[in-house]
Amino acid sequence: MTTLNGKRIVVGISGGIAAYKSIELIRLLRKSDAEVRVVLTAAAAHFVTPLTLQAISGNPVAESLLDPQAELAMGHIELAKWADLIVIAPATADLAARLAVGMANDLLSTICLATTAPILLAPAMNQQMFRQAVVQQNLAVLQQRGMRLIGPNSGEQACGDVGAGRMSEPNEIFSAIQTALSTAQQFKGLKVAITAGPTREAIDPVRFISNHSSGKMGFALARAFAEQGAEVSLIAGPVNLTTPPNVQRYDVESAQQMHGLTLSLAPRQDIVIGCAAVADYRMETIADQKLKKQDGSDQLILKLVKNPDIIADVAALSANRPFVVGFAAETQDVLEYAAKKLQAKNLDMICANDVAVQGQGFNSEQNALTVLWKNGQQQLPLSDKFSLSQKLAALIVQQYQTAQII
Ligand code: PMT
Repeated sequence: MTTLNGKRIVVGISGGIAAYKSIELIRLLRKSDAEVRVVLTAAAAHFVTPLTLQAISGNPVAESLLDPQAELAMGHIELAKWADLIVIAPATADLAARLAVGMANDLLSTICLATTAPILLAPAMNQQMFRQAVVQQNLAVLQQRGMRLIGPNSGEQACGDVGAGRMSEPNEIFSAIQTALSTAQQFKGLKVAITAGPTREAIDPVRFISNHSSGKMGFALARAFAEQGAEVSLIAGPVNLTTPPNVQRYDVESAQQMHGLTLSLAPRQDIVIGCAAVADYRMETIADQKLKKQDGSDQLILKLVKNPDIIADVAALSANRPFVVGFAAETQDVLEYAAKKLQAKNLDMICANDVAVQGQGFNSEQNALTVLWKNGQQQLPLSDKFSLSQKLAALIVQQYQTAQII
């Protein structure tokens, strides 16, 4: 277990019933010898008292941006600089919205703007609130800016509802903090190439065939590998996402371009992962000019030809073949189809992705996978795509290392 000896952690608490769990989180941090300073929003002070938090953290609790006494002790900029890490638990919908637009209207949001330390958010809110598009957008914006989400979990809520929105348990948040502060860089020296997003197959100069892949899963996976020190090449179809730090990104449009680039990188990789939703077919001939509506016919017949299979071709390399991992997005008989693809494409692992379940798979913030390999399988339950990617990356590396020994 990574000790947090001497690590300086700001625990931000915003106003939700889950605030009571933060007391246990602070206790765990202190037990691990971290230095803790607590910042409370005005609403949070209705749920937990500064006195309790001061006693547990061993330090005065900061509540107000405009308190001259508190500013004398440790001003907001000093606190922002002091932190090795900021964790906000619970992070309410209101706090996420304020952070997403860059507000600095209380002490906690100001510290978040003024810090260069990593920020972890443990969202907690009613399941219906969590499902709102605006909440999802705000959380996605924060993730794209590098903040990390821990959970939330699914289950029974304080209000009696059941669903996603329960704050992660203190021990889960504690281990996310350990991971974030770990300098071990577990994947240092490893070269990983990942395909992500959709491909676009042009029909004519203004139209194309594509699919709903957003690239979020592949980008989250790239970030999970890069954060642990891997050298990551990300071959991205047309997506609207920011490149994660320390990732080499290659933008492509069509399956043929993705194929060419991935095959050129593959022999220099240890691991190649096909997360992209690649179009199986493309136009036999792309029209030079915009296709016109045909008078006298209600039909337009397009002739398509098969695209090359990128990961099957990587897996078929006779020299310098990397460890190859595929995804299988399926709407029925998910495990059966995934197992067939594992074999047919000669992959080392495949991530079966049931995309018939609402809220996971294509263009969602969360996902769940069952990962299959020759002699085993493991389920990775529903969680945000980055947390899922951290677990998936660890599992892939574990299987890759096992394959090297055999
Ligand atoms: O991008 P997001 O919105 O976050 O969504 C993530 C996702 C649902 C796209 C992702 O999790 C996923 O499941 N990707 C695989 C999508 C898919 O439909 O795969 P497939 O069953 O068509 O292909 C199987 C495997 O072969 C995949 O690894 C695919 O990348 C690869 N393939 C497929 C066809 C082809 N011509 N070349 C390939 O490399």
